Amino acid sequence: MTVSTQLFRKKPIAQIQAEANSQTLKRTLGPLNLISLGIACIIGAGIFVMTGTASAQHAGPAIVYSFMLAGLACAFTGLCYAELTSMLPISGSAYTYSYATLGEFLAWVMGCLLLLEYGVASATVAVGWSGYLVSFFKEFGIIIPPEFSLPYGVEKTLQDGTVVTGIFNVPAFLGMLAVTSLLIVGVKESAFVMNIMVVTKLIVIVLFVGVGLFFIDPANWTPFIPDMVTDAEGNSHYGFHGVVTAAGIIFFSYIGFEAVSTAAQEAKNPQRDVPIGILGSLFICTAIYIVVSMVLTGVAHYSKLNVPDPIAVAVDIMSMSSQTTGEASSGFKALVLLVKLGALMGLSSVMLVTTYSQTRVFYVMSRDGLLPPFFSKVHERFKTPYLNTMFVGTALAFAAALTPISVLGHLVSMGTLTAFAVVCFSVLYLRQKEPGLNRPFRTPFMPVTPILGIFACGYIIWHMEAETFRLLGYYLAIGIAFYFVYSLRHSKLKEGKAGPSLATPPLSPDPTGMS
Ligand code: ALA
Repeated sequence: MTVSTQLFRKKPIAQIQAEANSQTLKRTLGPLNLISLGIACIIGAGIFVMTGTASAQHAGPAIVYSFMLAGLACAFTGLCYAELTSMLPISGSAYTYSYATLGEFLAWVMGCLLLLEYGVASATVAVGWSGYLVSFFKEFGIIIPPEFSLPYGVEKTLQDGTVVTGIFNVPAFLGMLAVTSLLIVGVKESAFVMNIMVVTKLIVIVLFVGVGLFFIDPANWTPFIPDMVTDAEGNSHYGFHGVVTAAGIIFFSYIGFEAVSTAAQEAKNPQRDVPIGILGSLFICTAIYIVVSMVLTGVAHYSKLNVPDPIAVAVDIMSMSSQTTGEASSGFKALVLLVKLGALMGLSSVMLVTTYSQTRVFYVMSRDGLLPPFFSKVHERFKTPYLNTMFVGTALAFAAALTPISVLGHLVSMGTLTAFAVVCFSVLYLRQKEPGLNRPFRTPFMPVTPILGIFACGYIIWHMEAETFRLLGYYLAIGIAFYFVYSLRHSKLKEGKAGPSLATPPLSPDPTGMS
């Protein structure tokens, strides 16, 4: 077999479908279940964390338009995801779709992008979690020194004018390790815990909006789209360009909607209910994001939001403002605490789910032979891929402790946008190559929907910062080098074995309890 034949070797779709059909999942989910599943997975650090830097550095109050643009790109991609998952309802997500459609090499590249979408996303959320933890402890007079709550080399100017430099973000590191430990032992009561976390984060958002409405200063919205400026390094900020750049950053907020399409196999009427679930949850989350970002930028001037805990900053401003107007009460203070605690819980749930998803993708890639076998070694008692989880969790803990949130978040968004564009392309490709396949859900308005999806994702990527392109380039270069050094030679397809990833792996259940 020549190298080029090996690069494009594919998993047979009929075999994937046959193995997926051998799973007997009950069709129990209606449209409302699917919408709530979407909301549970979508809302997290994007709104609690990324909105601040995206608004402060790129869009100002016009971050609202950024949310609309990113939501539109997700709507097109979500419809494409729905078709693929209904055809290939198997573990491994977009990595496996690519293996079946585009061949091994691009599947490997997709695996690298998913490491950004899930793994690095989790580390990003951990940095935001750390910001909220510091803010929460401050309410009780416990001060975590900034040197140990900022990444290495990042400077912060304190209120007295002193400049401190970060050494190691200890809370982010410990938060990631806690999530890792939980995932190693398996999370038995997790569905219940997850539901509490989801309800709490929604209550917190409603409270933030409800109370924040009374503290909006309309002057903070003028100008709504700040004039474009170019910094010393030649990067543009604000203006229409800034709105699109910010859409790339807050794209992070929408990651997770594909979980709805993952549940296609369990939907009572996938043809009708999956699009309702995807578009319904996207519509509701977009509405929530627009309202929250309006209130956020109305309460706090966007220039004050260049922090990992923007909602906490806005709540602090409300609290100070209520004290000067004599409205402070113990009830208001409780609200401040609740908002910070709710954000912490919401972020914890996202860390748990994204880290879980990452270990599952690596598990599947290892069973395919593209990663070393220890990634698919399952613990006898816990039934979890414990070595995989330890490795991933520790690496992510260091990433969270040492890297600034902006670098991590931008990389995650660009990686995810690229992965989404490939998913849209896969739908177009398969309609051409395999028109007769059974498609329980069909993407509407073909071929317009995937083409618009590719265009929207590509347009947002195009406006992202040059530094993010460079980082993604280095990252993929390392990933591709690993493929040629290791994966190409160890692939199970090379050995002519049946694709082991296509059977359901014998692992403990999804900690979300939802998929
Ligand atoms: N969409 C998820 C979040 O915003 C990843 O945290």
